[in-house]
Amino acid sequence: MKLSIIGSGYVGLVTGACFAEMGNNVICVDIDKEKVRRLNDGIVPIFEPGLDKLIKKNIKNGNISFTTDTEYAVKNSDIVFIAVGTPQSEDGSADLNHVLEAAKSIGKFIDHEMIIVDKSTVPVGTADKVKMTIEGEVKKRFPDGAPFNFDVVSNPEFLKEGDAISDFMKPDRVIVGADKESSMIIMKELYRPFTLNHERFIEMDVRSAELTKYAANAILATKISFINEISRIAEALGADVNKVRAGIGSDRRIGYHFIYPGVGYGGSCFPKDVRALEKMATDAGIEPKIIKSVQDVNYEQRFYFLSKIYKRFGENLEGFTFAVWGLAFKPQTDDMREAPSITIVNELTKRGAKIKAYDPEAMENAKNFWLKGNDDVEYLNNKYDTLNDSDAMILITEWKEFRSPDFYEVKKRLKRPVIFDGRNQYNRDFLKEFGFEYYQIGVSD
Ligand SMILES: NC(=O)c1ccc[n+]([C@@H]2O[C@H](COP(=O)([O-])OP(=O)(O)OC[C@H]3O[C@@H](n4cnc5c(N)ncnc54)[C@H](O)[C@@H]3O)[C@@H](O)[C@H]2O)c1
Repeated sequence: MKLSIIGSGYVGLVTGACFAEMGNNVICVDIDKEKVRRLNDGIVPIFEPGLDKLIKKNIKNGNISFTTDTEYAVKNSDIVFIAVGTPQSEDGSADLNHVLEAAKSIGKFIDHEMIIVDKSTVPVGTADKVKMTIEGEVKKRFPDGAPFNFDVVSNPEFLKEGDAISDFMKPDRVIVGADKESSMIIMKELYRPFTLNHERFIEMDVRSAELTKYAANAILATKISFINEISRIAEALGADVNKVRAGIGSDRRIGYHFIYPGVGYGGSCFPKDVRALEKMATDAGIEPKIIKSVQDVNYEQRFYFLSKIYKRFGENLEGFTFAVWGLAFKPQTDDMREAPSITIVNELTKRGAKIKAYDPEAMENAKNFWLKGNDDVEYLNNKYDTLNDSDAMILITEWKEFRSPDFYEVKKRLKRPVIFDGRNQYNRDFLKEFGFEYYQIGVSD
């Protein structure tokens, strides 16, 4: 099929690359000229395992191309995906400016029958707004009625950054919300190669599909905040949250996923989507009690972790240096949007501390954007080098390369053998035996 994807970010690029890999002809559009120029040279602007290989291969065989020319893309496609960002607005709702801009440009250039797919995470009712926006533009060109039809469907994306290609290629489910049977049939055909092993295509109406995405992110965020609340209870009562996690995770109804105690969730989706769901519910006259608490617990968790550092080193941290391992909001990505590391590093430096940081992928983003202007942070190219003259090591992101460090080296380099583990990665008994002072989430010190 002939497809266009408007918005060549994490979702747009993965979607485009995976559809191209299945033999579709894909045009990826972005307003960022430099990004498009680099993509056409095969340079992928984000770190996502396997993505650059897939894009290079499909550029070579002619299945994917990149452009800033929306007119060309719309006129040469049967299905146009909208995959632009939906950041948080000041009132907590999803900012639909990019989505409606994309809809406007589709409306300006559409000249044949097509399906428009909302892949961005958008509030319930957005497909109607997209439809009205396109209709508004079409009417300007065809005041007496257009000689073609179009339909707007919802197809929320569930990929995880860091494992996005595999999530797209072997999805747990593909959700499509469409009100027209003919659109549903085409969408089903488009996704058929991804659901050959067994049926994973779930059909529903547009509004339910839009809400499904928010409900999915909200329940995952709830699991994280739940275990983090339990971690504080465990610590206060002298229990060990790691043991509690194993105990509850073994129940198949609960499962082990998303109940890792830590410094809280971050990233480009959970924070803004949970907040947007709260706003959607409130606007609809429903008080979303669980959803509000999930966010409060998540925010407090960063400060609960910081309080362990203050308890050990005092409220005034002047004269202390900390080695920070991990800045990305999770492993296998360079994404730092809403990363807990931002709060933790800034709070520590605000109190006078110096930071020596290392992350395998996110340091450029930190340096040039998220922690830009914080001159108390030094970036080093090796995790061990951050330890030299540092008073403690603080683990924030659980990259695999941090799981089994050479603890002899860690101890030798640190000024004091102190570790604050924000992801409960290490064995407490082993580290204590080794002579470390070791602080974890959800275990009394
Ligand atoms: N990142 C994820 O893990 C993920 C997962 C599932 C769903 N989502 C949702 O998918 C959507 C996109 O997220 P993302 O992380 O890919 O965003 P992103 O910020 O990485 O990419 C968005 C891209 O759209 C481009 N853009 C903006 N307006 C445009 C326009 N009018 N025309 C062409 N291009 C335009 C931007 O330049 C940018 O390159 C969001 O709604 C997000 O919530 C994201």
